[in-house]
Amino acid sequence: MPDDNLFDQTAELIIDGQSYHLPIIEGIEGDKSIDVRDLLKETGYTVYDTGYKNSASCCSTITFLDGKKGVLRYRGYAIEDLASKCLFIEVAYLLLHNKLPNRVELENFRTLLEQHALIHEDMVHFFDKFPPNASPMSILSVMVNSLHNFYPEMSADPLENIDITASRLISKIRTIAAFSYKKSIGQPLVYPRNDLSYCGNFLNMMFNTPVRPYIVLPEVVAALNKLLILHADHEQNCSTSAVRLVGSAGGNLYSSISAGINALWGPLHGGANEAVIHMLEAIHQDNNDYKKYIAKAKDRNDPFRLSGFGHRVYRTFDPRGTIIKDACDDILGILNVKDPLLEIARNLEEIVLNDPFFVSKNLYPNIDFYSGIIYRALGIPTNMFTVMFALGRLPGWIAQWKEMREDPETKIYRPRQIYIGSPSRKFVPLSQRT
Ligand code: SDX
Repeated sequence: MPDDNLFDQTAELIIDGQSYHLPIIEGIEGDKSIDVRDLLKETGYTVYDTGYKNSASCCSTITFLDGKKGVLRYRGYAIEDLASKCLFIEVAYLLLHNKLPNRVELENFRTLLEQHALIHEDMVHFFDKFPPNASPMSILSVMVNSLHNFYPEMSADPLENIDITASRLISKIRTIAAFSYKKSIGQPLVYPRNDLSYCGNFLNMMFNTPVRPYIVLPEVVAALNKLLILHADHEQNCSTSAVRLVGSAGGNLYSSISAGINALWGPLHGGANEAVIHMLEAIHQDNNDYKKYIAKAKDRNDPFRLSGFGHRVYRTFDPRGTIIKDACDDILGILNVKDPLLEIARNLEEIVLNDPFFVSKNLYPNIDFYSGIIYRALGIPTNMFTVMFALGRLPGWIAQWKEMREDPETKIYRPRQIYIGSPSRKFVPLSQRT
């Protein structure tokens, strides 16, 4: 995908006295990379980069991050503008089409989301077979993967009409999430309503009951729109890379998104928002003994980490975390919610930001540190927090998957390794094994 004009410098590599010149590719924001696509063929060497900390897996036009300055843009638009001035479905459209929708485009997209909100009634019966305490993330992954069986035509060539493909998934994932919650608490399912907005529909499916109608508050809808926008994409993070990797093998969109859901589930990634609440609750129950948890985080022999802090890319405040922290006061004030965990979160942040140990490691609050506080205020249970992350991230995953599939540069993801196992050994038959 990169234009030739992006390559105007070279890097010289000298191996065993031989000089190799490798092209340097530079993105439009000055991000530079040494092009090693022919390194193995030319030198017989691979590059060793566990966790791909130093590797660019692709060229992308979707999201730009500047980890030093704490900058995040979707398709060139600043996250601060999108989070404060857009609906989530506008941003979903932007990620998919590289343009903010005009009124007609937005209405057409909204209509598609309404048309595809229901899941097949046969799928509804799947919920009867999950145990009551089943993880909502495992249910989400299973149900999204199962959509392939009910809508096989969608996998035929999802790029043919990405709007239909995307709106089916973006709409149905909301219904699946809400149904899994209702099933887990033994309440009757609440079906989607076409008179409600994307976020209002989700909240109604989650909290409406036959005995007490749920009032969809505009402030709550606005808070949810903001949260979903902030989670919508984040360049080549772990789950997005999982979506691209599965898609690179020719996998269908559902199986690729299901892989992304499973990667996001991990507590080092999207599962951190749930882990943050468990950590804050533990500190609360421990008489707010911050010192104990700070010491655990500093102890190299203790696997404990401060959930919600640190990031592979940001070496300063995660701009999304800052926006969410500010939104906490607004929404808790509107809902008149007093959450002791918010005070604990603020104190913990203050301690970490002023402790030389953490400052030396560039540990700042990330998107997951405060998001759970708002989800709690909206009434969303802790075990659904990562599901909320997936709802937000879905348009980004689809846009990244589409870009990968349309990119002529794309090859099946297949990294190499350095072998450090046993040298060649003579086979020993079973009868001679001691
Ligand atoms: C998300 O990539 C994305 O864009 C992800 C995401 C997205 O939108 O998709 O932004 C969403 O996943 C946010 C991150 C949520 N995860 C957490 O909050 C879990 C806690 N954070 C850490 O596990 C960690 O910071 C990671 C996983 C986020 C990043 O890990 P890295 O980049 O591999 O960094 P590292 O593990 O090499 O840490 C560098 C040093 C280490 O110390 P040393 O070995 O150098 O002595 O910092 C320390 C780490 O021990 N460290 C922490 C820490 N995070 C890093 N120490 C204590 N608490 C932490 N949270």
